[in-house]
Amino acid sequence: MSTSTVPARRILVTSALPYANGSLHLGHIIEAVQTDIWCRFQRLVGNECLYVCAEDCHGTPIMIRARQDGLTPEALITASAAEHQRDFAGFDIAFDHFHSTHSEENRYWSGELYQRLVARGSIVRRTIRQSYDEQAGMFLPDRFVRGTCPRCGTADQYGDSCENCGATYSPAELKDAVSTVTGTKPVLRDSEHLFFRLGDYEQDLKHWLATNGLQPAVRAKLDEWFKVGLTDWDISRDAPYFGFEIPDAPGKYFYVWFDAPIGYIGSFAALAAKRGLDFDAYWKAGATTELHHFIGKDISYFHTLFWPAVLHGAGLRRPTGVHVHGFLTVNGLKMSKSRGTNITARRYLDILPADHLRYYFAAKLGNGLDDIDLALEDFTARVNSDVVGKLVNIASRCAPFIERSGGALAGALPDPALYDQFAGAADALAAQFEARDYAGAIREIMLLADRANQYVDARKPWVLAKDPARLTEARDVATQAINLFRVLMTYLAPVMPGIAARAAEWLGPDSLAHWNGVRQPLLGITLGKYPLLATRVDPAIVKQLIASPAEAPAAPAKTQEKPVISIHDFAKLDLRAAKVLAASRVEGSDKLLQLTLDLGTEQRNVFSGISASYKPEDLVGRFVVMIANLAPRKMRFGVSEGMVLCASGPKESGEGVFLLSVDSGVTPGMKVS
Ligand code: 2FM
Ligand code: ZN
Repeated sequence: MSTSTVPARRILVTSALPYANGSLHLGHIIEAVQTDIWCRFQRLVGNECLYVCAEDCHGTPIMIRARQDGLTPEALITASAAEHQRDFAGFDIAFDHFHSTHSEENRYWSGELYQRLVARGSIVRRTIRQSYDEQAGMFLPDRFVRGTCPRCGTADQYGDSCENCGATYSPAELKDAVSTVTGTKPVLRDSEHLFFRLGDYEQDLKHWLATNGLQPAVRAKLDEWFKVGLTDWDISRDAPYFGFEIPDAPGKYFYVWFDAPIGYIGSFAALAAKRGLDFDAYWKAGATTELHHFIGKDISYFHTLFWPAVLHGAGLRRPTGVHVHGFLTVNGLKMSKSRGTNITARRYLDILPADHLRYYFAAKLGNGLDDIDLALEDFTARVNSDVVGKLVNIASRCAPFIERSGGALAGALPDPALYDQFAGAADALAAQFEARDYAGAIREIMLLADRANQYVDARKPWVLAKDPARLTEARDVATQAINLFRVLMTYLAPVMPGIAARAAEWLGPDSLAHWNGVRQPLLGITLGKYPLLATRVDPAIVKQLIASPAEAPAAPAKTQEKPVISIHDFAKLDLRAAKVLAASRVEGSDKLLQLTLDLGTEQRNVFSGISASYKPEDLVGRFVVMIANLAPRKMRFGVSEGMVLCASGPKESGEGVFLLSVDSGVTPGMKVS
């Protein structure tokens, strides 16, 4: 048995702060699980490990979402934070503190870091020209401008890049640009902005990178960015903006990505106040504690360039590690609302146990940036075969022989050498957990589980127990197997805390509480009642994770089927309420009805393609909406002097057409707008 001990370290860990304008989905959960496993592992080996997170509250999308929901941004973020914390708790994510970027701590630290950067000469002011929505009275983030790609001509692209050809550009370069806030055409307007001089930090950044163990793929990306050259970073936004006003720049707000990572500090500050922790020991330059950020690959630019540079400029410590993971895919494809694979945390928790997914994610998470696939059939098979069929099986088939022998484990192990093999894996497995190679660790643990099952299969305690004279032998075999199970369960406790907690009720409260506890087997103790540790997953239930087409939100109505028109274009239409004076079928047409419409000051003859949906006699006397200034159209049956408005589904759906009507009280000729 190895005797090495893990030195006690003091570690602060974060995962990315979720935005306050949407529910958590399994993409958020895989990151939280990856982080939580690491934190639980650190605590299990005896390190002090604090895990903080927060709600990411600022920015235009949240401001607009609150408006759309008829809420104040504060009300939106309160509701969102409650939902997020409930869902994280459902997955047993053990935060030490969950805060908010819209907090006094964060306001203070954002202002403080900014002032320090100003004092160092790292902030410059410059006037820039940006898209502005005159109707909404606001500058538009690139993502709030859509139009035709200037390179390939694909319609309906974001203001910063084209999904079709990958071109990146500024919103001003888009053709037919429209603001997604009001649908109007943006204009260009000048405004003074504040910039962080990132380029001044190139040498410091390179030095920092050389001393920390970033993943090779992240390093390669950084080299690319260095080659392209580091440009100043715009950290300000104009009002209206939901965020913190910049202390010496009235009407300007910190860009959400400036104060979001400072939210890590804000959250820690709140925790420090609660627990009486030494703030400087964690954040001052030269601090000997560790700081680790877990993030997805889409936000590595912010965490490996801006963030360490801002920290350095403000005289604070830089991260010890930034650990980047790939995206989650479902059944091999990007998660998608229309495919129903954008599985929310809540949907999963409503039907399946958290530990099953935690196990599956761990079994697939290595220390790389590759995407991680949640393949649902594989998930079912893995959980059923590994967790239930291998791990829990060791305990469940041996527990009865302890119960039948009076409830206590034997006083000695029949095969101490086998036990030592299991306990002796502790250091190698610890190294794998430390390096976030959970997949590697799980592989080893499951090989050990196979060996434990082989031991039980070979000794057959159920056969031994049939002979009362050999019940003691059966108990000894069970003692050995349960000890092997306990070692494996200790290794897996960071991965499956729910199953570990139930196992600890059975094996004793401290039985799984220390990684190095495995060095001593459990002997002679009386066990609790054997609990149900885990049950098999039903594939039919797993299928329910994918929303059925009926539940999947309808594909968003294509707003851009027709070119966007301005309010002036709309004003050209003369829409009127008209009363149907007469209606008849049209000889030779099975689609058209001929309508005589009263417009108050005149009568109009209109042909309308509604005969499949309306009987002429039912229309007489009712009001319709018509376009009164449509140029008369000569048709085979006569001249049509306008058009009545109808709603209709797609032609192929055969849903028919529905005349638009107006409320009672209307009189012929009233303007419709
Ligand atoms: O990308 C996101 O979802 C951001 N809300 C993450 C912020 S992490 C940190 F920097 F605050
Ligand atoms: Zn394009």
